[in-house]
Amino acid sequence: MLLRPLRLEDAALYPDFLKEVTAEDLRLRFFATMHEVSPELIDKLIHYDPAHAMAFIAIEEESGRMLGVVRLHDDAGGENAEFAILLRSHLKGHGLGWLMMKHMIAYAKEKGLKSVRGQVLAENRTMLLMCGELGFHTIDDPGERGVKQVTLPLDEVSPLLTSP
Ligand SMILES: CC(C)(COP(=O)(O)OP(=O)(O)OC[C@H]1O[C@@H](n2cnc3c(N)ncnc32)[C@H](O)[C@@H]1OP(=O)(O)O)[C@@H](O)C(=O)NCCC(=O)NCCS
Repeated sequence: MLLRPLRLEDAALYPDFLKEVTAEDLRLRFFATMHEVSPELIDKLIHYDPAHAMAFIAIEEESGRMLGVVRLHDDAGGENAEFAILLRSHLKGHGLGWLMMKHMIAYAKEKGLKSVRGQVLAENRTMLLMCGELGFHTIDDPGERGVKQVTLPLDEVSPLLTSP
């Protein structure tokens, strides 16, 4: 498995990837019922501004298939950032999400950000458990009912977590 920054040409990998993401996982990621991701949304996900955002794609080296993606968008102030993550559904529960989160956290720390934050649906137990184990603090999202806000102050991250 190769983990590298998402590039424009990876737009071509999205349709095959999304074919193997369940509607439920799309809801957990985008907080809305959608049976498919529109080409417009894929276009938006691909065209991020590298000065203020980063996305890493996991690729199966042998087949070139996209296995997952984790992204990080800076807040307006540029000191903190918000992440989101999505995997091929049948690959869940084998440690790929953990690996990608660790990679994103190491990148954020290296970039000098103060914290990374995410919004997670309250019923998304896997994500909340994983964030807890990674050291994130969890509170009820002040703006949205049924949503938790998870925050990781990067000065609290152990070097052991982000070492390769
Ligand atoms: C949430 C999501 C990214 C998690 O990824 P995943 O690959 O399924 O999760 P992992 O297998 O890496 O980790 C899950 C489990 O392993 C633990 N774990 C994995 N690797 C570990 C490690 N090296 N050390 C300690 N714990 C580890 C996690 O805490 C968790 O525990 P459990 O299996 O006992 O429940 C994935 O399920 C997904 O894409 N879901 C749909 C979209 C979504 O919910 N996105 C989040 C909103 S932004």
